[in-house]
Amino acid sequence: MFDIRLVFGWLMSKCDRWSQGTESRFLLTRLVGLACMTLIGAATILVMPAAIAADSTDLASGSQVFQAHCEGCHINGGNIIRRGKTLKLNALQRNGMDSLEGIAQIVTHGKNNMSAFHDRLTEQQIQDVAAYVLDQAETGWKEPQK
Ligand code: HEC
Repeated sequence: MFDIRLVFGWLMSKCDRWSQGTESRFLLTRLVGLACMTLIGAATILVMPAAIAADSTDLASGSQVFQAHCEGCHINGGNIIRRGKTLKLNALQRNGMDSLEGIAQIVTHGKNNMSAFHDRLTEQQIQDVAAYVLDQAETGWKEPQK
């Protein structure tokens, strides 16, 4: 990413030379410097949450992955092949699958009659669909799967 602090560093060094002139020039540059630092601090705080959100999982993408790759066997959070292994919260808890890691693991590597998806889905898509499954399990698979 383009680092604004480098630009300010360069500006500050220019200012330093200019500010050697008089006492008031010196004070002025210090004040401007301080103001700039405060602005940069504020900007960082404002931008951070957006960066963090972009890093985390995306339920809309998870929903799309689910429709394309999972719904065939797990329609409405069920399981058409193994009745006890649904994506409902109580089943996930009983089978130790009620975590992002657990779900990501079974999606990546597969298990028995469920195939592995590591060659069809990216790491991010697997995280997204795992988050989507957990979210739906917690809300009872009531939302229409769009
Ligand atoms: C071909 C059918 C099929 C597809 C497609 C499929 N699964 Fe499965 N899934 C199964 C079967 C069968 C099991 C039970 C595996 C076992 O434990 O024997 C299972 C188990 C699971 C479990 C554990 C459930 C529990 O209660 O233990 C999760 C979570 C899961 N699948 C998520 C997914 C996700 C997410 C996708 C899409 C990326 C997906 N599955 C695609 C057949 C499928």
